[in-house]
Amino acid sequence: MKKLKALTICSPNDGQPTMLWRITPMKLVKLLCAAAAVGCLMASPMALAQDQIVIKFSHVVAPDTPKGKGAEKFKELAEQRTGGKVKVEVYPNSQLYKDKEELEALQLGAVQMLAPSLAKFGPLGAKEFEVFDLPYIFPNKDVLRRVTEGPIGKQLFQKLESKGIIGLAYWDNGFKIMSANKPLVKPEDMKGLKMRIQSSKVLDAQMRALGSLPQVMAFSEVYQALQTGVVDGTENPPSNMYTQKMHEVQKHATLTDHGYLGYAVIVNKKFWDGLPTDVRTALEGAMKDATAYANDIAQNENDVSMAQMKASGKTQFHEQTKEERAAWVKALQPVHKDAESRVGKDLIQQIYKEAEAAGFKM
Ligand code: LMR
Repeated sequence: MKKLKALTICSPNDGQPTMLWRITPMKLVKLLCAAAAVGCLMASPMALAQDQIVIKFSHVVAPDTPKGKGAEKFKELAEQRTGGKVKVEVYPNSQLYKDKEELEALQLGAVQMLAPSLAKFGPLGAKEFEVFDLPYIFPNKDVLRRVTEGPIGKQLFQKLESKGIIGLAYWDNGFKIMSANKPLVKPEDMKGLKMRIQSSKVLDAQMRALGSLPQVMAFSEVYQALQTGVVDGTENPPSNMYTQKMHEVQKHATLTDHGYLGYAVIVNKKFWDGLPTDVRTALEGAMKDATAYANDIAQNENDVSMAQMKASGKTQFHEQTKEERAAWVKALQPVHKDAESRVGKDLIQQIYKEAEAAGFKM
């Protein structure tokens, strides 16, 4: 089907034209139908189904992951605490929409809630979120937490409001490992490999710094692309690698922990602002507790996935020596400088300061 060049649509939130990505007529029809179906709900959340408010929460990973379980926890708490006034429908595994489509769908009001990875906000025009993709920028999760729960996290969420989106919470997954069909011991081993990445330009720069050829691809397509050799390798935390069965089609992986993968839970602003105050307050509480839960289980989910993959014997996992890690850190250091023009030098410096305040030398 021929692609339309680009489509300008008035945002349901502020009436301002919003440039959407290249979109096929078929996809457009799908989105508009879904948007129409929820249109009256958007206008008045209490108007339908005897006042029941439906929140469609779409995401791209398996239910059995930190994000999948976090979404289910939010559903449980939200329904319980609103006494059934709210129904949360969770759609995992790209069942409704793939990566880029789900952001379009949120802006159109076809779904109300998402939790895209922080690497996927660039196409929305919120490229500062790609700071989270900088290799080795977070020495550990405590530093990350200082960032997400402090003024930087709030500052980043404010950037979404003009796009008709409200940021509710940051959810963890974990640190990424690098996989391929050959051993990846030295940074040079990455040379010439076609590596699947998320849409982040910082990740693009990261792979290029290693001499690899980055290829942006929707998460739902990665397994098949690895299986058929369309790409040679990828990066993801163990929980995603295992639940998508990527370990069945990757012979080697190195426990690089070179970059962080987390999520922003976001909602359509018009929908959220239109909720009755008591309902919104209950949902905010449910989100707070679902966030604590998701962040609490993330490490263990990843550890269990890693153990399962090791037990399967399908992928050989390499643990880096100190020297090997130092060589990767050195090879990837220039990415920080390269990213200044994209995510902002100040923002990078602010994160260094948080790391230094926690006792790390950046
Ligand atoms: C990916 O696309 O690799 C991941 O970000 C998917 C996800 O949401 O964890």
